[in-house]
Amino acid sequence: TNRTFTMIKPDAVANGHMGAILNDIISAGFKVIALKYTKLSEESAGKFYEVHKERPFYKDLVSFMSSGPIVAAILEKDNAIEEFRKLIGSTNPAEAAEGTIRNKYAKSIDANAIHGSDSDENAEIEGNFFFSADERF
Ligand code: GTP
Ligand code: MG
Repeated sequence: TNRTFTMIKPDAVANGHMGAILNDIISAGFKVIALKYTKLSEESAGKFYEVHKERPFYKDLVSFMSSGPIVAAILEKDNAIEEFRKLIGSTNPAEAAEGTIRNKYAKSIDANAIHGSDSDENAEIEGNFFFSADERF
């Protein structure tokens, strides 16, 4: 499909990058379909990241993602998943290409500023986690 899901993570919000990141996203041609400023409880962060529950960093990830407010959004663009992952850069900001969001705003692999869905199926699941039908425009 032509949609993806993103979260501006607690580190980027706390460091004052929410506006700059939204501007980068919109300037790159993504249309905002849904947008929410919210905070995950530990329980809901655990549910969101359930696919990673066997990974060694799962506990740290869940506690980090529930440590402060985030911005969640559904975005639309042709080839959205791939285009958005190109815009945000590698998971490890030390390896993220120049000019990518993680290159500019992230400090470490665990506090890496932004999330982008990795498949159409997950974009659908993740968007549904945060947004009802009447919150999409
Ligand atoms: P997301 O867009 O956030 O899903 O990142 P990603 O798809 O680039 O990475 P992945 O789905 O593999 O991992 C999910 C998140 O777990 C990453 O964004 C990181 O914040 C975190 N993470 C991944 N690898 C590590 C790691 O080795 N250590 C720690 N502490 N966190 C990690
Ligand atoms: Mg991922």
